[in-house]
Amino acid sequence: MKIAVLPGDGIGPEVTAAALRVLDALALPGVTLFEGDVGGVAYERHGLPLPAETLEIARTADAVLFGAVGDRRYDSLPRDLRPEQAILGLRRELGLFANLRPAAGWPGLEDLSPLRPELARGIDLLVVRELTGDVYFGAKGERTSDSGERQGWDEMSYGEAEVRRIAHTAFRAAQSRRGRLTSVDKANVLETSRLWREVVSQVAGEYPEVRTEHMYVDNAAMQLVRSPGQFDVILTGNLFGDILSDQASACVGSIGLLPSASLGERRTEYGAFGLYEPIHGSAPDIAGRGLANPLAAILSLAMLLRHSLGRDTDAGRVERAVARVLASGVRGADLGGDAGTDAIADAVVQELGETD
Ligand code: NAD
Ligand code: IPM
Ligand code: MN
Repeated sequence: MKIAVLPGDGIGPEVTAAALRVLDALALPGVTLFEGDVGGVAYERHGLPLPAETLEIARTADAVLFGAVGDRRYDSLPRDLRPEQAILGLRRELGLFANLRPAAGWPGLEDLSPLRPELARGIDLLVVRELTGDVYFGAKGERTSDSGERQGWDEMSYGEAEVRRIAHTAFRAAQSRRGRLTSVDKANVLETSRLWREVVSQVAGEYPEVRTEHMYVDNAAMQLVRSPGQFDVILTGNLFGDILSDQASACVGSIGLLPSASLGERRTEYGAFGLYEPIHGSAPDIAGRGLANPLAAILSLAMLLRHSLGRDTDAGRVERAVARVLASGVRGADLGGDAGTDAIADAVVQELGETD
């Protein structure tokens, strides 16, 4: 089983190292790691955020464990050289159109959510975010308006087939969960969303047992803090999914807790090929200080074990160890505690050793 490890920038290497310690503690036979440079680090070393050899390492692996990319130092580079192009390029080149971002309340964390404890406790949702289309991948650029003013522009679009395939992913997820799906769009304003809604409604007809509703994104953002327990599967496009998933993470307690899986159509010998990463970024404000919460990365590893390596039992062991660590009061600064990255990883490794 080949895992490509792409730590990236900022806290990326810190949280990825923690996840690798957990992988090591599982002592799985036959796992080989291949490390590659991505993001600002890759730009420094190779002149590009996603060097061809890194893409090749990812392509030939069974799964990719990704940290984070991004650094203020590179924010004014031309677009193609900016670190964020690495993750966008991987998603596009590897055909990873389905991004799963689960958010559920953890016992013991209710009081740390900015929401009232009874609301935080009731959260158990999955954001299914389309990941290779939308305004992210449309034509874009800068032009001069008739009045001579500079104008930035980005084209938003979705094709029927793109909407259909992500809708199927989300409906299948809803079938295996509580059978509820909320499709989030802005169909009252955007043509892109109008088509989205039409196609999702068609696909819904193939899943009569799933209760489907459509919600405008502004209302969804409001409902997510007002009564997050109403959501099971949230199906949405690339841009809205980016925003709503960060919001969902804060409802649970911290962005340092939310993992993700990005999947496409390719299967490997062991499961689905996928890329796994925390939903957070490189957190330059805390990078290099050992303060990052590694649980999102560790939970991303659990998703990797489940979806790409067919290691459901090991995934469950990791998730239960994380739950026990959180319940025991070991918490990072993001959750008002004083445990650093290494101490949290130590606690997870120790819990893995306990029988559950
Ligand atoms: P961010 O997610 O990096 O950080 C937002 C806030 O959350 C910061 O205050 C940060 O300290 C905190 N935070 C994030 N992860 C944490 C963790 N594990 N433990 C504790 N606190 C944590 O978002 P940002 O500040 O808007 O972006 C920083 C850089 O990361 C930018 O360059 C951005 O483009 C990039 N980014 C990359 C990815 C990715 O690689 N997939 C995702 C998001 C942002
Ligand atoms: C994420 C990030 C990325 C996105 C950026 C870094 C391109 O915010 O993975 O959520 O917007 O998809
Ligand atoms: Mn994001």
